[in-house]
Amino acid sequence: MKHPIYLDYNATTPVDPEVVKEMIPFIESFYGNPSSSYSIGRNNKEAVEKAREQVAKLINCKPEEIYFTSCATESNNLAIRGIAMANQQKGKHIITSSIEHPAVTEVCKYLSSLGWDITYLPVDKYGFVNPTDVENVIRKDTVLISIMHANNEVGTIQPIQEIGVIARQNKIVFHTDASQSVGKIETDVDKLEVDLLTIAGHKFYAPKGIGALYIRKGTQIENLMHGAGQEKGIRPGTENVIQIVGLGKACEVALRDFKQNRHNMQASRDRLLDGLISQLGNQVHVNVNLENCLSNTLSVAFENISAHALASLIGNDVLISTGSACHSGETTISSVLQAMSLDFRTATATVRISTGKHTTGEEIDFAIEVITNAVKKLSL
Ligand SMILES: Cc1ncc(COP(=O)(O)O)c(C=O)c1O
Repeated sequence: MKHPIYLDYNATTPVDPEVVKEMIPFIESFYGNPSSSYSIGRNNKEAVEKAREQVAKLINCKPEEIYFTSCATESNNLAIRGIAMANQQKGKHIITSSIEHPAVTEVCKYLSSLGWDITYLPVDKYGFVNPTDVENVIRKDTVLISIMHANNEVGTIQPIQEIGVIARQNKIVFHTDASQSVGKIETDVDKLEVDLLTIAGHKFYAPKGIGALYIRKGTQIENLMHGAGQEKGIRPGTENVIQIVGLGKACEVALRDFKQNRHNMQASRDRLLDGLISQLGNQVHVNVNLENCLSNTLSVAFENISAHALASLIGNDVLISTGSACHSGETTISSVLQAMSLDFRTATATVRISTGKHTTGEEIDFAIEVITNAVKKLSL
């Protein structure tokens, strides 16, 4: 058993050995520029196009609808700013939710400073956006709806398809940040009824520094960067072939092992929750509705303890994250937990535990023991 036990897979994942193997020849030998017409360039162009097909297959779109970026943050920027800029003549109103990642909210804030009007929809106590709320705030000048697929902190899965239908009926472009859902739950762009979807490689066993944006054919978008014509001019710059190859392989593996991974992640998350409840009883408070939650994610508060104290006490043995930040002695609750109206005590007692596809029962049993002992110690 590896030590410490890593249970923070929503923060990032290790790179899958199969992905590493696929990337190595491109690190060591295949250095050609995909735009070059001679063979080492053409071969790398083929590698990029193969990866595009692998990504497209995972989310059920056409390869030409995939644009490689450097990360989910860039994909979200391209999606939101790109759609906003391309549709200025139609209107300047954007709808989003109050539980988005900063890679969405900060883009919206920036657009707001330039004159766009942003509606931040509330969520219920489990973090769900109500599709009727979306419908109610649509205006004539609404050009974009951006609602995340699954939340990074609490795992809540949004009713994306229902919102997608509403967006389509009202002829409004619909983007979803699927950074946390790709590879964990089904992310079929047609079933979800989305026009743009953000992919983050390092959340599902590709390396950090690679992402993609799905853009449905026919969607008008402005590019953020200007340069040569790579990625059809939407995202110019010499392709990051090594990372793109890694992302492609990670998508292939995610699709191939989907059922097995989902089962493993859920089995370890459920074993963890059952173990904690059996040891700590009603001191354990689950913040979400597990029926509609990522199967690897557990947002849980341990009554009467500080999550920070817990995370640091167990930090040599088990790695988890907290729902609040502590700076210069002041505790601030995450905007997600605030939007879910969690009271201060519960929010500051909240940790996020997220399992991975290779998390074992042995690791979970060890984590249960370590967390239980620490919670008991902190409760004294
Ligand atoms: C939902 C969500 N969106 C966007 C991001 C940003 O990802 P990156 O830092 O790789 O750009 C993250 C990362 O945690 C995320 O969880």
